[in-house]
Amino acid sequence: MDTILEIKNFSIEFETPEGQVLAVSNMNVALKKGQSLGVVGESGSGKTQTFLALMGLLAKNGRCSGQASFYGHDLLQMSVEQLNQIRGVKMSMIFQDPMTSLNPYLRVSRQMTEVLIEHKNYNKKDALEKAIHMLDLVGIPDPSRRIHMYSHEFSGGMRQRVMIAMALLCEPDLLIADEPTTALDVTIQAQILELLDELKQKLGMSIVIITHDLGVVAGLCDQVMVMYGGRVAEHGDVQQIFYHPQHPYTQGLLQSMPSLVSELDQALYSIPGHPPNLQSLPAGCAFNPRCAKCIDACSQTQPELLAVASGTMVACHHVHTPHVAENLS
Ligand SMILES: Nc1ncnc2c1ncn2[C@@H]1O[C@H](COP(=O)(O)OP(=O)(O)OP(=O)(O)O)[C@@H](O)[C@H]1O
Ligand code: SF4
Ligand SMILES: [Mg+2]
Repeated sequence: MDTILEIKNFSIEFETPEGQVLAVSNMNVALKKGQSLGVVGESGSGKTQTFLALMGLLAKNGRCSGQASFYGHDLLQMSVEQLNQIRGVKMSMIFQDPMTSLNPYLRVSRQMTEVLIEHKNYNKKDALEKAIHMLDLVGIPDPSRRIHMYSHEFSGGMRQRVMIAMALLCEPDLLIADEPTTALDVTIQAQILELLDELKQKLGMSIVIITHDLGVVAGLCDQVMVMYGGRVAEHGDVQQIFYHPQHPYTQGLLQSMPSLVSELDQALYSIPGHPPNLQSLPAGCAFNPRCAKCIDACSQTQPELLAVASGTMVACHHVHTPHVAENLS
């Protein structure tokens, strides 16, 4: 299987009046064609910025380093013209904020058909037909009438669906979906996730899905990456991590997920404390003020992301110091 996306030693820094903020630190991920990756973690952990950077959409005060290869070509080294050949065509993003990708001054029909005409050689009539079909697939009622509306004439949930339809229009090889279904009601959510899964199976589309909802990851993803304070805490096969989580933060996330807790017959849990402030991360492991398994090393040295026997990558002193783990368990 071809590797579609390979992120290596990837970091993002922001220049702020208070100094530099390391929003993402030394990330490494490889995604094969047709595979999907779930990215989870609390607010501010660096999920959105990572993928905005790959799309060339980092804020002006942000700078990224490392590599992010799409079919072997480094996105971080591409010119805007080169990126424009890929963005929205071979690699699309469903943004957390729908207004990021919808132009308020153009009718949805124009926004949707232009990309097909320009990049996929459709004529106007076929492009309109395809766009209407896509709106229908994401559950927009009466799509042949509504396609002629402006984005601000849609409700929030409808706008979200229009954006999903736009992202899927060119049948991209890689779809990056940032909290794609949070604004939608449960029935539509399920419908959209089913559609994504279908496109994954039928077209071999690779998906990166950023979400707070671990249930979505369980249903759709092959790999999961758990982020904490701009770093990868745990990364690997979704089944391994769901049934044998190693990092205390991942364990906490899973124990706070109602449906999984009832399946595993455990008590519902809430991780104590708050997500860290990136401007004043604690020394050592950023999770140490909230971690029940903390040992001396945790407040002194940052744990490295290392493989455990199952192949899962974990950044935790407790996991990688067997004699301490035995004493504490
Ligand atoms: N332009 C900027 N300047 C300075 N810091 C920024 C800037 N943009 C984002 N950040 C910081 O980068 C960090 C990561 O933000 P990001 O948007 O990736 O979080 P997230 O994991 O997607 O959170 P959420 O779940 O709330 O969407 C945050 O602490 C945020 O405050
Ligand atoms: S390194 Fe220490 S503080 Fe961090 S998660 Fe592991 S045990 Fe907890
Ligand atoms: Mg985000």
